[in-house]
Amino acid sequence: MPGIIKRIAGPVVFVYGLEKPKKNYIVEVGEEKLLGEIIQIRGDVSVVQVYEETSGLGIKEPVYAIDKPLTVRLGPGVMSTVYDGIQRPLDLLEGSFIGKGEKTSPLDLKKKWHFIPESKMTLGTKLQGGEILGRIQETETVENRILIPPNVHGELKELASEGDYVVSDNLARITNPSQDLELPFYHDWPVREPRPFKLRILSSKPFLTGQRIIDFLYPLVEGGSAMIPGGFGTGKTVLNRTFAKFASTQIMQMTLCGERGNEAADALHSFLKLTDPTTGRLMIDRTSIIANTSNMPVAAREASIYMGITIAEYYRDQGYSVSVLADSTSRWAEALREISGRLGEIPGEEGFPSYLPKLIGQFYERSGRCITLSGLEGSITTIGAVSPQGGDFSEPVTQYTMRFTTSLWALDTDLARSRHFPAISWRISYSQNVREVAEYLKKEVAPDWQEYRTKIATILQEEEELERIVRLVGKDTLSETQKGLLLTAELIREGFLQQNAFSDEDAFSSAQKSYMMAKAILIAHELIEKRVKKEGLLVDPLYEEQLIENIKRLKELNIDGIKEFTDQLPSKVKELSF
Ligand SMILES: Nc1ncnc2c1ncn2[C@@H]1O[C@H](COP(=O)(O)OP(=O)(O)OP(=O)(O)O)[C@@H](O)[C@H]1O
Ligand SMILES: [Mg+2]
Repeated sequence: MPGIIKRIAGPVVFVYGLEKPKKNYIVEVGEEKLLGEIIQIRGDVSVVQVYEETSGLGIKEPVYAIDKPLTVRLGPGVMSTVYDGIQRPLDLLEGSFIGKGEKTSPLDLKKKWHFIPESKMTLGTKLQGGEILGRIQETETVENRILIPPNVHGELKELASEGDYVVSDNLARITNPSQDLELPFYHDWPVREPRPFKLRILSSKPFLTGQRIIDFLYPLVEGGSAMIPGGFGTGKTVLNRTFAKFASTQIMQMTLCGERGNEAADALHSFLKLTDPTTGRLMIDRTSIIANTSNMPVAAREASIYMGITIAEYYRDQGYSVSVLADSTSRWAEALREISGRLGEIPGEEGFPSYLPKLIGQFYERSGRCITLSGLEGSITTIGAVSPQGGDFSEPVTQYTMRFTTSLWALDTDLARSRHFPAISWRISYSQNVREVAEYLKKEVAPDWQEYRTKIATILQEEEELERIVRLVGKDTLSETQKGLLLTAELIREGFLQQNAFSDEDAFSSAQKSYMMAKAILIAHELIEKRVKKEGLLVDPLYEEQLIENIKRLKELNIDGIKEFTDQLPSKVKELSF
């Protein structure tokens, strides 16, 4: 017996008479069978959020219970696909539009994949959940390590031999005292349930982005989490795209949440053509995208970030380092607020539901580095963009997210306005990972990496204090040494922190290059300071010197060029005249 719609409030529908409703289980709503999820049970009434447009839906239409929670389908073909918030593939190139109630398979059911079983897998083996049965080359760059679902265990009775299969073919048969299971090449996993792993581990391996201000000043470890709060047009999306292209992780999962439809479509179109700087192949080969634009139903936006992170966990479980880029989590929180309002819940701060911090925490806690169920090492690094209205960071989503993320890359409206990009403020940004990352980079890049980082950070801090003095009493009161420090700070800001995402030479800066640049600037600083102190060299005229201009343009050089420039610095500084 189906339930009956009693009341409709936007994306929320109140259903009477569903038999044995279960929270977080899915239903099909109305004659059109729209996908919905039971989010509350109030006596005889089930409260359902509907993932598709509810206009046209009528009172008394039937609602059918489906005996499973909201899941994501995981198998070969997820990589390089663009999905909507409920995992229907969006064919952007065709410009197709998904109709209401349309059930499209998340995975291509006709495509043949070449499967190679693991040689050590013999029949009779006792298997635990999450073990790898074989491999499929999913895209040119990603090998899908075909896992048995994490919640399945038993004795291997049959295993597909090497050959070509569609995803619904039989991969294996596994039995245990209570089950005899035929497994296809995919499995479904509930999106709101974190996938299990064996052990959480710590790591000092940095999540390198090629962005100097991040990698050198406010680094993040692989498996960590960061947030990018920024007002309108400050560069959140450009930064996310830069990460998608250059970040040191193997797999990307992008969740585009609540962006304007046409802008997201444009961005995706150009993304689909991007080549991967590390492999020379298409970027999309190692990326999976969920696009849920502002014109799509609000409840699907709520689900999309869980969809995204579950997909990320699936690849983590195969032993990959994965990054999750969510843009923007504020739009997700707004979806929660709207649904909560429809439910008549007592609102918390700024109308957001009181459980918002808990949900934000649960989302970021799904990042981390771990030993997977099959004994591999995998990680999820999560980066969430937050778009506070008017760039006001005191609002709830920014504040709550700060509690659960280890790095903060705060975008500053004034910097963006003055076209200092990336507009990451060095005044309020921070990283809790500096010590770990330093351990790693001291070995990989240079033993004195951390000393140079500290010096750069200190000069930027001292500049701030000197500026305060200048504002109070004017520049004339500063000593020549202090003026020299201001000059170096300008070199750091313009020559080092500024980085144009659209420049061929400078969009990506390796950890080595960033270090060499910082070192060159600091060596110049020391040499100049020595002449200022010992010989009374005046600082103001130096702003006109070609040498200063050349230091600002170090970023255009490669590592050898920077090294050569650094070697010539002593003689160049000696040539500076009064
Ligand atoms: N790293 C960068 N290098 C050069 N230009 C940049 C950079 N970051 C941002 N910009 C400039 O700023 C513009 C706005 O950036 P972006 O769209 O990323 O902002 P946003 O914070 O995502 O905006 P919204 O709030 O609308 O989502 C870009 O179109 C570009 O011109
Ligand atoms: Mg944006």
